[in-house]
Amino acid sequence: MKVLMLAAEAAPLVKVGGLGDVVGGISAELRALGHDVRIALPHYGFISAAGESQSVLSVRWGRAKVKSSCIETAIEGTPCLLIGGRPIAPGESVYAQTAAIDIRRFVFFALAALHHVQALGFQPDVVHVHDAHPGAAVHWLQQAASTEPFWRRTARVLTIHNMVYQYNEAAEALALGGLKPASDNRVPTWARAGLLALAIRAADRINAVSPTYAKEIVAQEHGAGLHALLLARAGRLSGILNGIDYQCWDAATDSALARNFTAETLPAREANKRALQQETVLPVGPAPLLGMVSRLDHQKGLDLLARALPAVLREGKAALVVLGSGDGNIQAALQQLAADFPERVLLNFRFDEGFARRIYGGADMMLVPSRYEPCGLVQMIALRYGAVPLVRATGGLRDTVTDCDVDPASGTGFVFDAFTPRALRAALRRALTRFEDRSFWRGMQRRGMALDFSWAAAGRRYQALYRKAIEDRSARGTD
Ligand code: GLC
Repeated sequence: MKVLMLAAEAAPLVKVGGLGDVVGGISAELRALGHDVRIALPHYGFISAAGESQSVLSVRWGRAKVKSSCIETAIEGTPCLLIGGRPIAPGESVYAQTAAIDIRRFVFFALAALHHVQALGFQPDVVHVHDAHPGAAVHWLQQAASTEPFWRRTARVLTIHNMVYQYNEAAEALALGGLKPASDNRVPTWARAGLLALAIRAADRINAVSPTYAKEIVAQEHGAGLHALLLARAGRLSGILNGIDYQCWDAATDSALARNFTAETLPAREANKRALQQETVLPVGPAPLLGMVSRLDHQKGLDLLARALPAVLREGKAALVVLGSGDGNIQAALQQLAADFPERVLLNFRFDEGFARRIYGGADMMLVPSRYEPCGLVQMIALRYGAVPLVRATGGLRDTVTDCDVDPASGTGFVFDAFTPRALRAALRRALTRFEDRSFWRGMQRRGMALDFSWAAAGRRYQALYRKAIEDRSARGTD
């Protein structure tokens, strides 16, 4: 199949969060399955890629025609088109400080990318859009299907990584691109010019990044106002759990670690814990070491952690290391915790992949107390590195971690339900008690390490989803 991926991020070239990892990862897997995959990304100011060839064309943008460039490069072997043009150029970062700038840049990107692909003669069987950013492409394709023979047979797939970022006030940017908002009353009035809502409405198939999240978003709590629209499209909605790159994340070969290890050589892991304790100047010794690697975002529940942890730290000998960057208020809450427990809490507010790897390879547990979590990659990496995950029962966390008190024979971690300090504290106490039983703990680490969250399973599921989308497309004829 010929597949065009449209996204704001694709790792390793552009990565802010898990979205980038997933777009890069699934593209590589689909290519390995024999599909002809192209990724298109906005040509952000910070990408200095000198590509093999560059083409330029004009895109209608209001009354004017705006020049758009396209540089052909590659991301780890997958061909990648970097789409440029005046609305994309401003700012150095992937996401601007204001939604209005993002909306203009992403609407322009989505429409220009389709023009370039057509000019290059690459006729995709599937246009696969990730999240709201390139959502205008799905809306445009729905309209073009009746007028443009080139796009008549193209199926449209939307993957939802996060319902919260919707870009709802896009009427002006859509008008610049010659598009009208939806008039359909399944879409709430406030979302009729929303990039996510328009994509949900016009996609042949929609998937969320875990089976549980696919169920959660059709209800009010996690649907971010679009649950009724999603429910109306429930027949087209499914969940596909993300994967992680098993070569890139491998404790047996990871050069960031003091000692490499496998499930068979788990005692060797102790050297990594010691090294991490030394590096972070936390007390060296057998006391449990908790780790957290996270964007500092409201979603991630760090505020809950800051409220739940003091009592637990006062009672026992556990220590905590946190690596993350983002929101200043969250940083301040964590700084208070570190000020209260200077010898037990170490914070690092940077993006540092080597340090993240040393945390996965050395911490005894990884904490993921998210408010909501469409999939979550941290707990999957933690399982692979023998760090026992403690997670909240939401989205992909629920789909990937089995609580060892609920199911001692196949448990791989600790799961708590209510988003309250009390529930988190109870799970932490259970974990610290279980930690004393070394052989039980080893068993849990081994079971976690034996799970398979590589891209292989997700690759096959996406392939099947594309086939369904193509069937839907041909059954429907023109829109
Ligand atoms: C978003 C979600 C996260 C998911 C990632 C990749 O960042 O918040 O849960 O793992 O996308 O799909």
